[in-house]
Amino acid sequence: MPGNLERDRLHEFPGWWGLERKIRPAYPAELLGNVCRVLPFGEEHQNSDRYLAWLRDFEVIRTLNLPAYWSPVQKDEVRRYCAALRGSENDYFFAIALRETGEFIGTLRAGHIDWRADIADIGIMIGEKRVWGGGIAQDAIATLARWLFDVVEIRRITAGAMAANPAMIHVFEKLGFQQEGVLRSQDALPEGGYGDHILLGCLKSEFVRGQAEALREGDEDARK
Ligand SMILES: CC(C)(COP(=O)(O)OP(=O)(O)OC[C@H]1O[C@@H](n2cnc3c(N)ncnc32)[C@H](O)[C@@H]1OP(=O)(O)O)[C@@H](O)C(=O)NCCC(=O)NCCS
Repeated sequence: MPGNLERDRLHEFPGWWGLERKIRPAYPAELLGNVCRVLPFGEEHQNSDRYLAWLRDFEVIRTLNLPAYWSPVQKDEVRRYCAALRGSENDYFFAIALRETGEFIGTLRAGHIDWRADIADIGIMIGEKRVWGGGIAQDAIATLARWLFDVVEIRRITAGAMAANPAMIHVFEKLGFQQEGVLRSQDALPEGGYGDHILLGCLKSEFVRGQAEALREGDEDARK
């Protein structure tokens, strides 16, 4: 009897049977890093001119692997994208702001969350190019990863980057991510041809907390 199949065979699936779907924790008001703040992506970010400008900036989108954005992305498309992410049960979508001034400089996402296997995928865009190389991406990812591991109880975080984006791969590796695979000739390159896509992963025990661990006090402040 198909309807009783699961019940009759529970003993054969002790792993899956025990995996309850987690209740999704609410967004934090703010996560405080050493040099940045990670806060829920809101209307003010979506409507800011700079967000659209970043998504139309070739130097920003070329390593985001977004060939469709080459013919400039339109406001409506961005609005739909943001609405889908913000309404998704399996994503957290954040804005990144400079810690000192509050200036909106990028976005950060924990996406494709599997609430039974406890895995999430991180993606980041620092749109404000003048702050590149200032350690913001590392700080933002470390801050988000700490919250995902410690509060959301994610077990494993994944990420992907174009092989043509060595800075991104370097940042993830500094935080303890390991290269786990190569999708060969996966990404259409703007200059022509195709490039590899690197898959990275980090288990909670591998996460290099270093800098991030010192941030607890800041987080307490942010919650007050
Ligand atoms: C890639 C990106 C996130 C990096 O952000 P960032 O704030 O400049 O990164 P950080 O300053 O924290 O770190 C950059 C690191 O890469 C290193 N780096 C820079 N160029 C490098 C290169 N060609 N090869 C190897 N490492 C490089 C820097 O030295 C620095 O490492 P260090 O702190 O050990 O010196 C940012 O440039 C960006 O958002 N680009 C556009 C969108 C994008 O590519 N997003 C990622 C999609 S997966």
